Amino acid sequence: MGEAVILIERVEKLRSADLHDLGDAAEQAIREGGGFGWLDAPTRDLMERFWRGVMLIPDRSLFIVRVDGVIAGSVQLVRPPRNNEAQRHAASITMCFVAPWARGRGLARRLVEAAETEARWAGFSLLNLDVRATQIAAAHLFESLGFLCWGSHPYYARVRGHAIVGRYYYKVLAEDSQQDGTLE
Ligand SMILES: CC(C)(COP(=O)(O)OP(=O)(O)OC[C@H]1O[C@@H](n2cnc3c(N)ncnc32)[C@H](O)[C@@H]1OP(=O)(O)O)[C@@H](O)C(=O)NCCC(=O)NCCS
Repeated sequence: MGEAVILIERVEKLRSADLHDLGDAAEQAIREGGGFGWLDAPTRDLMERFWRGVMLIPDRSLFIVRVDGVIAGSVQLVRPPRNNEAQRHAASITMCFVAPWARGRGLARRLVEAAETEARWAGFSLLNLDVRATQIAAAHLFESLGFLCWGSHPYYARVRGHAIVGRYYYKVLAEDSQQDGTLE
């Protein structure tokens, strides 16, 4: 058997087969422990409506990875709302996941790199993200991609009645974000 064909795409339109695959990948990742919002897999209908909703948000870009044509994971790049002029240099990365069957093959790395490339291309000089401290693989992933952890939040998430620490990361994409802050 030949090597699997891996493709990263910025999604313009989700066809119904894609919605189905994306729902499958997300559901499998949620059952394996989640880490990108959901604690329990929503119904199929809700899941598909969620992804359709993502496509409607103008400030979001959805990236997917396909393995031999099947969607195996995704990530979103989120731009700040127009009114947030003070943070217009900063985009964020959210909801990065890869289905358990496709992990450990560098797919998440490629997804995040694609989101980062778009952020640079769009002129952002800073990327922000946050993860639960319990998401060890995610922390390694982002740290290996040069994200710096700047702080933690003791009550970031609540899972089955327990408070879960969150870790906040940033990555400077261009030097203009590094100018000294003033108390404006
Ligand atoms: C985090 C996650 C997206 C990684 O997906 P993946 O495709 O397996 O990751 P990659 O193969 O691209 O690995 C990239 C790097 O991540 C780190 N990593 C991945 N899996 C790891 C693991 N189980 N333990 C430690 N580090 C791990 C490594 O640094 C790896 O780099 P290396 O291969 O050079 O060592 C996946 O485990 C996942 O979906 N987790 C649940 C969702 C989640 O936690 N999302 C983050 C919040 S947005």
